[in-house]
Amino acid sequence: MRRAGGREEPARAPHTSRPTDDVERMTDPADTRAAAGKRVRRTLKLAKAKGAAEPAAGGAHCIYLAVIMDGNGRWARKRRLPVAAGHKAGARALRRVLEHALDIGIKEVTAYAFSTENWDRPADEVHALMDLFIEQIETQVPDMHARGARIRFLGSRAGVPAELVARVDEAEALTAGNERMTLYIAFNYGGRQEILDAAAGLAAEWGGGGAAGAPAAPASAAPSFTADDLRRHLYAPEMHDPELLIRTSGEQRISNFLLWQLAYSELYFSPKLWPDFTEDDLDEALADYVRRQRRFGGRA
Ligand code: FPP
Repeated sequence: MRRAGGREEPARAPHTSRPTDDVERMTDPADTRAAAGKRVRRTLKLAKAKGAAEPAAGGAHCIYLAVIMDGNGRWARKRRLPVAAGHKAGARALRRVLEHALDIGIKEVTAYAFSTENWDRPADEVHALMDLFIEQIETQVPDMHARGARIRFLGSRAGVPAELVARVDEAEALTAGNERMTLYIAFNYGGRQEILDAAAGLAAEWGGGGAAGAPAAPASAAPSFTADDLRRHLYAPEMHDPELLIRTSGEQRISNFLLWQLAYSELYFSPKLWPDFTEDDLDEALADYVRRQRRFGGRA
């Protein structure tokens, strides 16, 4: 989460996911995109043996992934179970996907766990979700830490139960030094709010004379901000733009998720309900990504 008030350290580098500079920007220089690609290819070969799609030769492999885990409620209703059981099954699916992502060299996964709009759900569902998040942090974080995953929460702590905030802080502190993969959990998160908060941070910075160390701008000067100026004020400025967004359950919308960061992401919609989403489904989405032509508004 973003520190309240104050200035952010300038981002280390631009973060659009252009294939040309991805290797430079990786947090672990030893683990190159090529190495990640090799692992993805190996896994996809296995997946192909099980009937998954084959990637086109020479395509770029996805190492920055975002997921909208949709369909927990429908999964539960289909089984005449309480909605909390659907979220619990969703947590198991997330764990499976993360294990696989670690195995195949994915560097960042950003998962939409709870939106600023989700507070409007029935109180018992919200309580069950808060309890589930606490339980999941307690039971899953030590193992994720052992596997080299860094965990960061993206969103506002305002209104979040104190016990959960404490667990979030502990999880972030425990895993801060890990470099194999970063799991960003979007929690109490809204994309518009993130942009508004970043704009407020930028305005405060400008009012204070510009970025730390930069000379103060004359009062008459018209501000001319760049995308990177604003990015420095996002909740996790170091996060790369996802190359691929997966949304499950057949719904085809963004739902206020990563509005800034998804500007040029490839979108993949799976008909599977999130608790049913498997490692093979992830492989299929990644194979689909490899076949995409990314142009970032230019020409191929
Ligand atoms: C959307 O499905 C899902 C959520 C609002 C919660 C997602 C949470 C989890 C997967 C639990 C595990 C997460 C962590 C970080 C441990 P929905 O309930 O809107 O499904 P529906 O559209 O079928 O009702």
